[in-house]
Amino acid sequence: MAMLGQAVLAISKNRMVTRIVKQSSLFRGMVNRFVAGEDLESAIVATQNLADQHLTATLDQLGEDVRSIEEATAAVSSYTTTLERLASAGLEPNISVKLTMLGLDLSETVTVQNLETILATARQVSGFVRIDMEGSAHTAATLRIFERLHDQYPEHVGIVIQSYLKRSLADITRIIDRGARVRLVKGAYAEPESVAYQNMSEVRRQFLVMMRMLLDAGHYPAIATHDPELIEATLAHAGAKGYGADKFEFQMLYGVRRDEQLRIAAAGHRMRVYVPFGTEWYPYFTRRIAERPANALFVLRNLRR
Ligand code: FDA
Repeated sequence: MAMLGQAVLAISKNRMVTRIVKQSSLFRGMVNRFVAGEDLESAIVATQNLADQHLTATLDQLGEDVRSIEEATAAVSSYTTTLERLASAGLEPNISVKLTMLGLDLSETVTVQNLETILATARQVSGFVRIDMEGSAHTAATLRIFERLHDQYPEHVGIVIQSYLKRSLADITRIIDRGARVRLVKGAYAEPESVAYQNMSEVRRQFLVMMRMLLDAGHYPAIATHDPELIEATLAHAGAKGYGADKFEFQMLYGVRRDEQLRIAAAGHRMRVYVPFGTEWYPYFTRRIAERPANALFVLRNLRR
């Protein structure tokens, strides 16, 4: 992540900045661009609108770092409700979950039980659960829990690999071998040089290596990026190898490069949009601004129209 992005993440933790962003109506408009709404029904409407435009979705109930087992249990029930509600609305039951929201900082045993409850519901409704990847302090535990539950629910759970992490090449090789579904991303957290590449060209280079590995040997991978260079390279590789549109999907975030989402879908490729909803939008929102401080200016300009 660039220096400016690291600075945005650091400033966002300041209490006064947090209060200003949460209370200002100006920021509210920006939040509305990236977050589908504060409740599940708003997210269902957004998902239906995307479906009308031939885009699929994965729903993310915002929240992370829960501080009590009770909060983690509440998160489980909101995730299972989301899966059931998507199914009853005739939409694909596909969600993304963060293990810190299921109690990863409190107890690994409880986290496994919580995730298993969600996966049992996913199986009932023929749905899919993607485990988002968080900061590097959680990588090993997240992969350990994923691999354990993938043995039991191979068709209903997938993982995320971040190309900026130095360990990812070994992880992705192992995950491809077990035939699990991977979402490939660059990585959104501020990480030290000891664990992550700091240089964007190296992060991109790793992304390209892993994208090719996934397309050649992976199980229905998701290539999740807004980066034109990486999207073009993915299309070029798939074209050269003769891979059909059903072999992989692209993924982008709600509110980011909407024209590009539609353009790629109109060209016959699969595009899934990551749809966050809920009241706990602050950390998600600041990561989006940190990735691309220009997003803040872009949204402000559009708000005036
Ligand atoms: P990046 O933001 O680096 O942009 C690259 C280039 O794209 C820019 O230089 C510009 O040319 C162009 N561009 C980008 N935005 C544009 C815009 N609005 N308009 C015009 N051009 C634009 N991370 C993580 O750590 N764990 C996770 O689980 C996930 N999950 C996840 C799911 C999905 C569906 C996505 C898309 C992303 C994630 N991420 C994530 C976030 C990811 O790690 C990464 O931080 C962001 O996707 C930003 O990197 P990009 O590769 O998208 O492009």
